[in-house]
Amino acid sequence: MSAGTYEHAEALVLMNPGPVMTDSRVRTALAGPDLCHREPEFSELMARVRHRTTLVAGGDDRHTSVVLTGSGTSAVEAAVSSAVPEDGGLLAVDNGHYGERFAHMAEAHGIRSHRLELGWGNPVDPAAVDRALAGRTGLTHVGLVHHETSSGMLNDVAAVTRVAHSHGCEVIVDAVSSIGAERIGLAADGIDWLAGSANKCLEGAPGLGFVSASRTAFEALAGAPRRSYCLDLHRHYQAQEKAQAPAFTPGVPAFYAFDAALSLALAEGWEARNARYQGLARQLRSGLQELGLEILLPPEQRAAGLTAVRIPAGWSYAELHEGLRAHRFVIYAAQELLARDYFRLSTMGCMTEEDIGRFLAVLRRLLRDRDGTARPERARTRTGDEGEG
Ligand SMILES: Cc1ncc(COP(=O)(O)O)c(C=O)c1O
Repeated sequence: MSAGTYEHAEALVLMNPGPVMTDSRVRTALAGPDLCHREPEFSELMARVRHRTTLVAGGDDRHTSVVLTGSGTSAVEAAVSSAVPEDGGLLAVDNGHYGERFAHMAEAHGIRSHRLELGWGNPVDPAAVDRALAGRTGLTHVGLVHHETSSGMLNDVAAVTRVAHSHGCEVIVDAVSSIGAERIGLAADGIDWLAGSANKCLEGAPGLGFVSASRTAFEALAGAPRRSYCLDLHRHYQAQEKAQAPAFTPGVPAFYAFDAALSLALAEGWEARNARYQGLARQLRSGLQELGLEILLPPEQRAAGLTAVRIPAGWSYAELHEGLRAHRFVIYAAQELLARDYFRLSTMGCMTEEDIGRFLAVLRRLLRDRDGTARPERARTRTGDEGEG
């Protein structure tokens, strides 16, 4: 393959949970003109992207967003390292890999923290958060993942936020894999800090993360400890809001693409996008169950964009990945505790019913050719619930 020709990419069906398949208008935008980030054209682009980001985060006139060149992790880490004060502490609500990551981030920045371990794939009980906060002094912030992508579970942000506020704590929400396709709102849910990324349900290109909050909250960071130089939210806020220029050199093409993606996201609306992903997930899940494959979590706990599936008996993840990749489907391994038994399939991005139909046909063939049977038995979910939500 010569430089600049990437014929393979067009034909792959990405079932990994981001970066997702994007609309051709988003990909075209990536080839926008070369631009100096300290010229008025970039200021305009950045202001528009920040404003649209605040809108998709459900913010109102009180809110704004800081857009960072970096992955989703950088946005979450910028929020954690900047928002928790010197004498504060973080409760990391952990029901999966990304919840646990809050605790690791706190540790990396020398922030006092307590990890509320609920177990992977178990729902977050707001009463457990209440008890954890009631029993400890010095916790000022709660870190919660909206869509725990390690299992596919959607956590109840509004309920946890209410509990946190009743203890005088602020909430930092990792909405990296939910924003754009699940209901979440800075204003409606009273979220204090919301971290997201461009390349999952917002269907932009990889390379940008963002933190949305009230202007007052960003302003109040002025006297906070500077635990990081390049992830210092106050530095980025000052630069983007006051100087109308980014603090450091941004990924200009990713901004072009995010601008296009945000305008598509706002035109479609999160409700319609959720319905689109739900439709694909329903088709996928019922096809998997017909093949006798077990799906993790009861239907009502699953996000629209992700399905964790038990690896078929007699198969390794690597064999499954290789077999499907040969037919241009990219599946995704599960992490840590779930890695041995499960794999993950995303329904985020510009996927079509036809893609899902072909995926199921290829999977059926692979299983049949290997096992010599069509796997007629119906699967049960881990909780024994056979239905589909
Ligand atoms: C919920 C959640 N948080 C954070 C991240 C990290 O995002 P990134 O890989 O862009 O750093 C992911 C990535 O899948 C995620 O799903």
